[in-house]
Amino acid sequence: MKIRGAVLEEIGRSRPFAESRPLTVSELELDPPGEGEILVRIEAAGLCHSDLSVVDGNRVRPVPMLLGHEAAGIVEGVGPGVDLALGTRVVMTFLPRCGECSGCRSNGRTPCIPGSAANNAGTLLGGDVRLRRDGVEIKHHLGVSGFATHTVVDRRSVVPVGADVPPAVAAVLGCAVLTGGGALLNAASPTEGDTIMVVGLGGVGMAAVLTAASLGLGDVIGVDSMPEKLETARELGATSVYTPQELAESGVRAQIVVEAAGNARAFETALAATAPGGTTVTVGLPSPDARASISPLTLVAEARTIVGSYLGSAVPERDIPTYEQMWREGRFPVEKLVSSRITLDGINRAMDELADGKAIRQVIEFDH
Ligand SMILES: NC(=O)c1ccc[n+]([C@@H]2O[C@H](COP(=O)([O-])OP(=O)(O)OC[C@H]3O[C@@H](n4cnc5c(N)ncnc54)[C@H](O)[C@@H]3O)[C@@H](O)[C@H]2O)c1
Ligand SMILES: [Zn+2]
Ligand SMILES: [Zn+2]
Repeated sequence: MKIRGAVLEEIGRSRPFAESRPLTVSELELDPPGEGEILVRIEAAGLCHSDLSVVDGNRVRPVPMLLGHEAAGIVEGVGPGVDLALGTRVVMTFLPRCGECSGCRSNGRTPCIPGSAANNAGTLLGGDVRLRRDGVEIKHHLGVSGFATHTVVDRRSVVPVGADVPPAVAAVLGCAVLTGGGALLNAASPTEGDTIMVVGLGGVGMAAVLTAASLGLGDVIGVDSMPEKLETARELGATSVYTPQELAESGVRAQIVVEAAGNARAFETALAATAPGGTTVTVGLPSPDARASISPLTLVAEARTIVGSYLGSAVPERDIPTYEQMWREGRFPVEKLVSSRITLDGINRAMDELADGKAIRQVIEFDH
């Protein structure tokens, strides 16, 4: 079938992206779903820094690629062996889980091995590519390729949600919430009264703030270099906020510190602000060349832990229904993470907004 989608042509084009236009929105051909795959009509797709990292080359992926990995939509077709009813709303997750490898047996702690290999190759979990433009193969992004009117994905890339969950909320559950919430709940396991700090307040960091505030775990401290972000963090439930410099001067530390900025300086800030006995969870994805400085002595003397967390160390089919139910009960206002609603044609300008650090989640809405 014919679809419209945003294809990254080339890595590393210069800013502003609104002028260099690294993404082309055009007509593509989408093959029908194969065995174990589904056709989804996309309703909403969020922009995450991990999309920008492909555009600017921090995360090297094969191109041309149809970007987007935080999305939700309606099942419109199924391949053989799929258990989902047509019309079901699904949340896309950005790492399919084969269900059988040692990663899948780790209860979310380590990524699926074949899922990661497929993501690196730009294919679906089964190894196929279902997208073409003028006969030329277009790669899938993290098994999702959500910046399009429709997509074909593996059944193991999605989790069904209720029809009452609005599309933009469902989309954001798939990356920002799964990653930020899971960094806290799965990778760190907080207990009541723990002070929680989040360094880097984009969509992922704000989701961690919202999760901590919704669960009423303890004081929630937001840290970002941009003062506007600090204001928003307060609105989402942060009890105090600091720029990195103010934080260093204050000497404030927390039992659990989540780094969600994606650079070595932020990681060092997070490390310095972790209390004795505490845990630093890092989810940011800096450039592969980034290096940070650590004092091994401090780690030992203060009995501290550093944890890396991919996909919020989540089991999506277990965790998404939990977040969905918290949202339904009115105690987890995920819609507050949506800072603007845009169209697919505005994608290059939206990448500039993201790079400027202005956005939380810009969500593309499709009116088919
Ligand atoms: N581990 C995972 O599974 C996973 C999933 C999604 C995103 N990510 C990564 O998480 C990071 C955050 O993603 P996002 O979409 O929320 O990004 P974003 O660009 O929306 O937000 C990043 C925030 O960090 C702030 N920041 C930058 N440097 C800082 C510093 N030194 N100190 C304090 N704040 C600083 C920025 O002002 C911005 O508000 C990115 O690196 C992204 O690639 C990882
Ligand atoms: Zn993401
Ligand atoms: Zn697996």
